[in-house]
Amino acid sequence: MKAQAVIFLGAPGAGKGTQAREMANRLGIPHVSTGDMLREAVRAGSPLPEAVRARMAAGELVTDEVVCALVEERTRRPDCANGFILDGFPRTLAQAEFVDRMLAERGQGSPLVVNLEIDRDLILKRLTGRRTCPVCGRIYNLYFNPPRRDEVCDVDGSFLLQRADDQEAAIRQRLMAYEKETQPLKAYYRERNLLRDVDGNGSRAAISDEILRLLKDP
Ligand code: AP5
Ligand code: MG
Repeated sequence: MKAQAVIFLGAPGAGKGTQAREMANRLGIPHVSTGDMLREAVRAGSPLPEAVRARMAAGELVTDEVVCALVEERTRRPDCANGFILDGFPRTLAQAEFVDRMLAERGQGSPLVVNLEIDRDLILKRLTGRRTCPVCGRIYNLYFNPPRRDEVCDVDGSFLLQRADDQEAAIRQRLMAYEKETQPLKAYYRERNLLRDVDGNGSRAAISDEILRLLKDP
């Protein structure tokens, strides 16, 4: 992999988490998902304010300060020294500028940005059908890649969870936040020739192959 930081950009349900997990496994580098870190903090009841949980449940973005602090701390750990994958971060212009400063200060160079594009009419099925294993983090979909046994993880037998924000009202709000705050990042990275578009509508395996190819030869 050439760039040390890889950013996965894309609408809710585009497949960021699915592909970031896969790439992290294949490349042996950490998968840093702000959504997962926030959900974990909320589950643990620590030390984030109640406002964070409420914003997430409503599908609104959490403040830049909160997520930038999480990323700054997580990517400073030694396992990130040879590279890491950012999933769902940055998603505002202020966060993108923060990443640039952080990488420059650490001498880690420019990020490579994988932009997963997905058709609007697929999003609802992807999100309402999503189930996640609370133990191993594996992501399923009742329509597209169901577990072998209803609502149970194939790997460890745990009962799968549905995310609190995968309800229609919160999904609408997340799509609005994406369009208003995150879409502009495409131009921000495209201007610097750091953005690579990937069709997120195909099979998971075909998309993984395409991303691997890009990471090796950006
Ligand atoms: P976050 O957890 O990042 O959610 P999101 O951006 O809405 O994206 P999703 O996780 O819903 O989608 P995904 O692209 O990861 O898709 P997945 O791979 O799961 O953020 C949640 C909340 O946290 C935000 O609303 C906000 O409140 C807060 N937050 C997080 N980061 C923040 C930040 N930086 N700033 C401020 N606030 C922040 O796939 C979806 C489904 O599709 C799954 O069921 C999967 O199995 C299926 N699927 C995937 N790929 C395929 C395929 N190729 N074919 C068929 N099915 C597929
Ligand atoms: Mg995700």
